[in-house]
Amino acid sequence: MKGVILAGGLGSRLFPCTKITNKHLLPVYDRPMIHYPIESLVGAGIRDILIVTGGNYAGHFLQLLGNGKEFGLKELHYTYQEGEGGIADALRLAEDFADGERLCVVLGDNILERSIRGAVEAYEAQAGGARILVKKVSDPQRFGVPVFDGRRIVRIEEKPARPQSSYAVTGIYFYDRQVFEMISQLSPSARGELEISDVNNMYIERGQLEWSEIEGWWTDAGTFPSLLRASQLIAQGGANRP
Ligand code: G1P
Repeated sequence: MKGVILAGGLGSRLFPCTKITNKHLLPVYDRPMIHYPIESLVGAGIRDILIVTGGNYAGHFLQLLGNGKEFGLKELHYTYQEGEGGIADALRLAEDFADGERLCVVLGDNILERSIRGAVEAYEAQAGGARILVKKVSDPQRFGVPVFDGRRIVRIEEKPARPQSSYAVTGIYFYDRQVFEMISQLSPSARGELEISDVNNMYIERGQLEWSEIEGWWTDAGTFPSLLRASQLIAQGGANRP
């Protein structure tokens, strides 16, 4: 399995900090944000990693990370997203890198307390399709929200005003090669982006979406309150623990 970290976007919810750098280079406790998703992948045994970034500061990723020696890697791969087409648009750029293999896709501002190794193994044991990770949250309207029928997810609603469950779809996704054909069928949402929730809904329609619940804390870090929360959680006990 290969890993893809999506680290583009304008980071407009963190203005003015993101006027002079990419969101994923901002500090979260004692490291730049991008370190955490790299650690999540490497800690789960995924060593072939592509970073998709964009905007004016893409070069800073090379200066910061180089070939990933700090993480025990021989090489890191990079690609550049033109414009702000959304998460699914960024993922489209990983098609050649994936070369038909399965992917673990991580949003660059998602940070976890515990290793994702269990989820990686669960996906490896799956015949194919997709797998998402969910987490109970107090503010589901900020996220993609799964609608359940018993234990089955029947639909995912992106930032619903009236959430049908108290779970968030986290930014850790597992996909097979079908994902690229699905992305090519998407059209932009109301916010002008190709939505990853639309991709997940296509897998649901094909009866090929599995899920598991994350153990330990999970947070994004794309807003000032969540960035602060992430730093506090890491200061208390660290991230990406086995
Ligand atoms: C994105 C996804 C959303 C998901 C979230 C996780 O939201 O669209 O479904 O729950 O990441 O961090 P965004 O950060 O683009 O608002």
